[in-house]
Amino acid sequence: MISKTLDVKKKNIRISNSKKFTIVSYGCQMNVSDSEVVASILKSIGYIYSHNISDSELVLLNTCSIREKAEQTVRKKLESLKSIKKINKNFKVGVLGCMAERLKEKFLEEEKIVDLVVGPDAYRDIPNLLKEIEYGNDAVNVLLSKDETYGDINPSRFNTNGINAFVSIARGCDNMCTFCIVPFTRGRERSRDPKSILAEIYDLVENGYKEVTLLGQNVDSYLWFGGGLKKDFNKASDIQKKTSLNFSKLLDLVAKNFPKTRIRFTTSNPQDINDTVLTTMAKHDNICNHIHLPVQSGSDRILKKMNRKHSSKEYLNLVNKIKKIIPDCGISHDMITGFPGETENDHLDTLNLMNKVKYDFGFMFKYSERPGTLAARKFEDTVKEEVKQKRLSEIIDLQLKHSFENLAKYIGFNSNVLIEKESKKSHDHWCGRNPQNIMVVFPKENFKIGDYAVVKILTNTSTTLIGKAIKNYKE
Ligand code: 5AD
Ligand code: SF4
Repeated sequence: MISKTLDVKKKNIRISNSKKFTIVSYGCQMNVSDSEVVASILKSIGYIYSHNISDSELVLLNTCSIREKAEQTVRKKLESLKSIKKINKNFKVGVLGCMAERLKEKFLEEEKIVDLVVGPDAYRDIPNLLKEIEYGNDAVNVLLSKDETYGDINPSRFNTNGINAFVSIARGCDNMCTFCIVPFTRGRERSRDPKSILAEIYDLVENGYKEVTLLGQNVDSYLWFGGGLKKDFNKASDIQKKTSLNFSKLLDLVAKNFPKTRIRFTTSNPQDINDTVLTTMAKHDNICNHIHLPVQSGSDRILKKMNRKHSSKEYLNLVNKIKKIIPDCGISHDMITGFPGETENDHLDTLNLMNKVKYDFGFMFKYSERPGTLAARKFEDTVKEEVKQKRLSEIIDLQLKHSFENLAKYIGFNSNVLIEKESKKSHDHWCGRNPQNIMVVFPKENFKIGDYAVVKILTNTSTTLIGKAIKNYKE
């Protein structure tokens, strides 16, 4: 039997047979956030978190299916766990997240080491599933939900610097981009009760956290009207509609209630981000001036085949509007090369769009066919691997050039930096981010993690600003 926790906070007592668990998260920030929910559920039944896999009796891999390579990484990890299972028969392995949802029971057949398969909406069932394993039964729950948001669970921040935290505000995605597996693995879009969002942030702030990132596949389409799927908004009562809360209102509420906390959000979809979101960002100093605005391609023909709900012109108009309303706003992107049927001209359109926007940074990928998506069913994966790779290298090179040029513009100016960790390259330097989400590195002097510093920028690479702190701010 799994042991129960006894009044942990007051007496730090646990029944001695408490089990240790580890969670390894792959893929997006939403998985990191979900792992904290799972950790909280496990702690409530007496499990203790451990950093060490070989020391744990339960290891959970929170998986990603976005590209084939992400799935291969998980399979390799499962392979590496076999040696532990050989020595310790009580060692249990669970898979959570998107790959669990995609493969369902098949996961147990394909990877014999797996004991537990749990989809993104079924984490509350983990305690029961663990019992099923003990009875020798299969433990699979991949039901998707209309209203699960885990809003009432206080995430257990087991892998934290105590400064930055993710707060999920919505789950699922209704966009159905033709290349994307997410709508199948994470279900329909639903928003979380703003009261529970505010309560979670309040708790974080009380515990010393300085920066909160609001998370959703599609934050700008956040809409609270009393629960349920976003698509059912039209069926809501008049009073529900009247009292509904959209993303700009939520952002305003969070910024006003926590004026000393830095607020970020991700991910934005071009068709959903509206003027009020931008004016709300401009109005509040504590909302960071950065928008992650995936575009995926610069070709209208490809955008249409991707079922993106904007043209390249509409996207560029939006970028111009952002720059007008928030002149120092950092803008980043996601881009896919080699979507089925992508020609050299389409690729040139992508390079052209990048040349017009001059993004600060971006995440660039080769198209990876995902089973069951509309693109996989309707379009042949025609672009050869070498061509995808060549185009990817070209867009990465162009992005690095733009990043370097954009970052060089900071030289001689001051950036407000929240200190997050030690620089990877030097024990004598701190590393933090400025509001535009750019890494800033500078000598530690008397500063400490969690401090805000005004850093004068002296030089840059294409990913990092390097400078010297001149004073604290927000003291
Ligand atoms: N192939 C390659 N990249 C993909 N992405 C989503 N699906 C795929 C796919 N099938 C990328 C998109 C998205 C980011 C999270 O991952 O750029 O914005
Ligand atoms: Fe996938 Fe498109 Fe939804 Fe992003 S918006 S999660 S790319 S379907």
